Amino acid sequence: MSWIREGELTIIERFCANIIKAGPMPRHVAFIMDGNRRYAQKCHVERQQGHSQGFDKLAQTLRWCLNLGIREVTVYAFSIENFKRSQEEVNGLMDLARQKFSRLLEEQCFLNVCFAYTSRHEISNAVREMAWGVEQGLLEPSDVSEALLDQCLYTSNSPDPDLLIRTSGEVRLSDFLLWQTSHSCLVFQSVLWPEYSFWNLCEAILRFQMNYSALQKARDSYMEERRRQQMERDQAYVTQKLQQEGLATHGDSRHRRTLLQKCTAMREQRIQGFLQALEHKRVDFFERLCPVSA
Ligand code: IPE
Ligand code: IPE
Ligand code: MG
Repeated sequence: MSWIREGELTIIERFCANIIKAGPMPRHVAFIMDGNRRYAQKCHVERQQGHSQGFDKLAQTLRWCLNLGIREVTVYAFSIENFKRSQEEVNGLMDLARQKFSRLLEEQCFLNVCFAYTSRHEISNAVREMAWGVEQGLLEPSDVSEALLDQCLYTSNSPDPDLLIRTSGEVRLSDFLLWQTSHSCLVFQSVLWPEYSFWNLCEAILRFQMNYSALQKARDSYMEERRRQQMERDQAYVTQKLQQEGLATHGDSRHRRTLLQKCTAMREQRIQGFLQALEHKRVDFFERLCPVSA
């Protein structure tokens, strides 16, 4: 039987879900599932039991998300820092992850799992990838931009989260999706993760809806600024080219416009070539990591 799909919402939950769905809904929600050990302590059960219930809560939360029409979920399951916990706890978490995630990932495709992850590691890796592109002659230094960095992150195939939820009352991001959440609604809730309820999720979505127009405005103005900066970089590139050709930088405006279009098209081409090379590099890396037997 399916782990995620089994069990429907109660009538009252369905009723409230329909009311919430009348407002703007987050398409992508990220969770920092925190508080498993405190929950275990509170309920006088083994720590591993707290973690196990945490994984089960994820399956239940995904079902609520599905019912609410949330199309993508990203969870922080284990940070690089968590390797510093006792060997026994790390082994227990690895066992649970193996069991539970293989089942979860078999069943649906809207879950991204951040495991052995930190955001600063992800960002510095993206910067290294761009430096590699320049070194290989695939990119010009002027191609490096925030938009390109976006495309070098592990999350490049997903839109940024609209809503980020952290449970257990801790008011920090603990190095999770730092780049991707600059225009997300951040909701910190005091409930411990294994006790998370449908009502907690509704409350977080309501907070997103209350802040929706401010979030949209901030996002739009950021995108506008990004476009303006790109235009400025392209103009500077054209000026440099004209100077190299020994031409006046403000002389023939038609020539300048044609050059600008050509430079923009060439930049796009370089970036596509670089992203393809990056994709091959990553596929090679994973094939070496987990060779598929013939
Ligand atoms: C989150 O709960 C799960 C992981 C980090 C793997 P914790 O294990 O951090 O539990 P608390 O926050 O100490 O209660
Ligand atoms: C963050 O929780 C990581 C996960 C939920 C997987 P932690 O409990 O490890 O974070 P800190 O140490 O309290 O910041
Ligand atoms: Mg914690």
